Amino acid sequence: MGVVRLASSTSASSMVAIVAVLGLVLNLAVVCNGGITSTFVRTIKYSADMPLDSDVFQVPPGHNAPQQVHITQGDHQGNAVIVSWITADEPGYSGVIYWSADSKNQTAVGVVTTYTFYNYTSGYIHHCTIGNLSFNTTYYYVIGIGNTERQFWFTTPPEVGPDVPYTFGLIGDLGQTFDSNRTLTHYELNPLKGQTVLYLGDLSYANDYPYHDNVRWDTWGRFTERSAAYQPWIWSAGNHEIDFAPELGETIPFKPYTHRYYVPYNASGSTAPFWYSIKRASAYIIVLASYSAYGPSTPQYQWLETELPKVNRSETPWLIVIMHCPWYNSYYSHYMEGEGMRVTFEPWFVKYKVDIVFNGHVHAYERSERVSNVAYNVVNANCTPVKDQSAPVYVTVGDGGNLEGLSTVMTEPQPDYSLFREASFGHGIFDIKNRTHAYFSWHRNQDGYAVEADSAWLFNRHYYPVDDSKSIRA
Ligand SMILES: *[C@@H]1O[C@H](CO)[C@@H](O)[C@H](O)[C@H]1NC(C)=O
Ligand SMILES: *[C@@H]1O[C@H](CO)[C@@H](O)[C@H](O)[C@H]1NC(C)=O
Ligand SMILES: *[C@@H]1O[C@H](CO)[C@@H](O)[C@H](O)[C@H]1NC(C)=O
Ligand SMILES: *[C@@H]1O[C@H](CO)[C@@H](O)[C@H](O)[C@H]1NC(C)=O
Ligand SMILES: *[C@@H]1O[C@H](CO)[C@@H](O)[C@H](O)[C@H]1NC(C)=O
Ligand SMILES: *[C@@H]1O[C@H](CO)[C@@H](O)[C@H](O)[C@H]1NC(C)=O
Ligand SMILES: *[C@@H]1O[C@H](CO)[C@@H](O)[C@H](O)[C@H]1NC(C)=O
Ligand SMILES: *[C@@H]1O[C@H](CO)[C@@H](O)[C@H](O)[C@H]1NC(C)=O
Ligand SMILES: [Fe+2]
Repeated sequence: MGVVRLASSTSASSMVAIVAVLGLVLNLAVVCNGGITSTFVRTIKYSADMPLDSDVFQVPPGHNAPQQVHITQGDHQGNAVIVSWITADEPGYSGVIYWSADSKNQTAVGVVTTYTFYNYTSGYIHHCTIGNLSFNTTYYYVIGIGNTERQFWFTTPPEVGPDVPYTFGLIGDLGQTFDSNRTLTHYELNPLKGQTVLYLGDLSYANDYPYHDNVRWDTWGRFTERSAAYQPWIWSAGNHEIDFAPELGETIPFKPYTHRYYVPYNASGSTAPFWYSIKRASAYIIVLASYSAYGPSTPQYQWLETELPKVNRSETPWLIVIMHCPWYNSYYSHYMEGEGMRVTFEPWFVKYKVDIVFNGHVHAYERSERVSNVAYNVVNANCTPVKDQSAPVYVTVGDGGNLEGLSTVMTEPQPDYSLFREASFGHGIFDIKNRTHAYFSWHRNQDGYAVEADSAWLFNRHYYPVDDSKSIRA
């Protein structure tokens, strides 16, 4: 207890002026009962939303030009893409023209939808699935008509297989502040080059505005287009997507979210867009819903019960779960909120040897050891989490930078299972190398783009179930 040592990372503040004065900022860390509680100190805890006239919110020029363009995986295997965008003035055209270096132009036509929220009326929201794409291939696509055509591109993942390297970005609770913009910029300029974002819930934070001002859903869509139009963002829903507002006459939960963000839930046999799965390269990704019913007999429970046995680890060695609310969280913020779902699903995670779980919700970063807490049965006293080599690593990356600020207060002492925690804005990278090894890193916004404030090698639970807790902090 109380041992002070230098953490392995030396971080340079992104505030160049301060760096020039101080030189390198040494990052002290305190080792408590558990792992490391980083003592890195940020100067500002809160940051304001970017004003409506910010550069990142600019409406593209031209009458009815497509805006808020974003893509996500469109099927279970990874050779379809859902392209979504909004036209503000009139329905326009829901078609996508797309081609690769080896194929001639093809066209797919999607659907258009709208919604109202209190006194807000959405633009025309288009969703078009383009399928039968070749793997590992760059496609160009064009949306809009006449003078307002806009062109983008994306690269499909390699065909699913056990040794296909692939790099995922982890972003959660992004919002639309100046810090959010820094997080997205750091993700884009990270030399580890994420190929797909696993989004950990809480998107626009529009509901923090009076009347849930849905204009802030539109600004968020324009802000994130610069990444989400070029690489898929795999969506999971957070509490800020619920938008349940009976005082405004809005009683359909998730109304803005489900109209704006389509996901391929149907392809994995799910009956609702809040829980589903995809395969991508060597990963099997299960998206769970912290804000949908999960108890026995519920649709989500039944789906997960039949889903987990379907995962073929010989084909997709890396079993990743994403959901908004963490089960293992040693911050005051949202403390124990995840307990109900943990009690319900944790035995399955251990049985099926989930490799890693990514969460948002808590506006901070935390990484756990492989730990489980499945022995407790109310009458025995076995209620302490124990090290468990069949259990996942739990990582909270809820630090995208939204207007609610950071969760800085932590429970003390740091629990044994908590290996590293710090309340700073940033993003994560999960870099799968092959069937046995993956490298996780966390990048705080104050550092240079290449700096890893925390990192760990993960050994695959199916192919290489060796204790990886000591491999930590490469
Ligand atoms: C394919 O579509 C794009 C966008 O509309 C257009 O610029 C291009 O000329 C088309 N190519 C062919 C061969 O038709
Ligand atoms: C919605 O109602 C609020 C409160 O009356 C008002 O401030 C706002 O301007 C209205 N917005 C629209 C789009 O009418
Ligand atoms: C893929 O091709 C098949 C056969 O032509 C077609 O039935 C199916 O709709 C296509 N899928 C997509 C998503 O375009
Ligand atoms: C993907 O294509 C690139 C060339 O474009 C090639 O170098 C790479 O090996 C391919 N990856 C897979 C997994 O097929
Ligand atoms: C957001 O970040 C981008 C890229 O760094 C920058 O060009 C832009 O000016 C920033 N906008 C705001 C409002 O901070
Ligand atoms: C998707 O939904 C349709 C309509 O409800 C259903 O017929 C189909 O079986 C579902 N599953 C897939 C994989 O398309
Ligand atoms: C699992 O995947 C492997 C590799 O693709 C394949 O050979 C095997 O048949 C699959 N097993 C099942 C039960 O589908
Ligand atoms: C898998 O990747 C790790 C880390 O890059 C490397 O050390 C190991 O040799 C690789 N395994 C194989 C079989 O290539
Ligand atoms: Fe949240």
